[in-house]
Amino acid sequence: GTTLGTSAAERGRYFGTAVAAPKLNDSVYTTILNREFNSVTAENEMKWDATEPSRGSFNFTSGDRILNHARQQGMSVRGHALLWHNQQPGWAQSMEGSSLRSAMTNHITQVAGHYRGQIHSWDVVNEAFADGTSGARRDSNLQRTGNDWIEVAFRTARAADPNAKLCYNDYNTDGINAKSNAIYNMVRDFKARGVPIDCVGFQSHLTNSVPSDYQANLQRFADLGVDVQITELDISGSNQANVYATVTRACLAVARCTGITVWGIRDSDSWRTGQNPLLFDAAGNKKPAYTAVLNALNEG
Ligand code: G3I
Repeated sequence: GTTLGTSAAERGRYFGTAVAAPKLNDSVYTTILNREFNSVTAENEMKWDATEPSRGSFNFTSGDRILNHARQQGMSVRGHALLWHNQQPGWAQSMEGSSLRSAMTNHITQVAGHYRGQIHSWDVVNEAFADGTSGARRDSNLQRTGNDWIEVAFRTARAADPNAKLCYNDYNTDGINAKSNAIYNMVRDFKARGVPIDCVGFQSHLTNSVPSDYQANLQRFADLGVDVQITELDISGSNQANVYATVTRACLAVARCTGITVWGIRDSDSWRTGQNPLLFDAAGNKKPAYTAVLNALNEG
């Protein structure tokens, strides 16, 4: 194919990007978006602070704007993210215990219910494990409601939208390490007990290299019976084109790797200010990294 999305689709995958609603007014941005990508993730607009700014009152305006654009363009939509320790609205940040537990399950029910039938995959829980070598859960108000919060979140999401793939999403999980091992053990336990989980998202925010066991790590999760998705790919450094190609080839080599999402379109759109980690430059020109990805997608 001649674009990222059509080339990925020829290999049975999607190729997507994070989208910021205000940038849908920027014609350079939307021209690239509509030409190159067949999947979108709302960068911020479907998060808790955006969708439930005060308890029980929901605002889907900006999330709907992104969803409607995707539908008009025939793009699939990744929902991001139902529960996360970050970007909670203030009223939730100060909650603990059983009231938070009921607020979080209501949040899932209302948001996944609002988008029912329109979301390809939900990041049901984002970043629930700690960094470092402990393999422990990240301490957060959500974790303090009880260790079963993740299982409850997935069961609640399944009830709210039986059609969406339900994903666990995290970062620093790009090889076999204590954090990815802890997630692996959770997924294995969930599958053994029939807890609904359909995919694992690997954010893959990389800095000039990728672990040599990146593909093996994806494969071991796929072997548990879930899809794997590369969900927030961005790669800084002078070697970025080669690393982008390596990551792309790894996804293509794992049958249940269903797609790749880059975390923004132009370098100037990236949260990684100044690191130029994306496939298009600030003017919207294709970078060597773009060509490396396109070529990898089109390899036989
Ligand atoms: O919307 C407000 C705006 O009203 C205000 O004027 C402005 C200045 O204060 O802030 C705006 O909110 C910002 C928001 O992005 C929307 O632009 C927040 O300050 C800013 O913190 C937020 O950053 C986002 C970040 O998540 C928050 O943690 C980034 O755009 C987004 O790319 C980033 O994405 C996360 C994924 O969701 C999860 N994985 C990690 C990834 C990188 O942190």
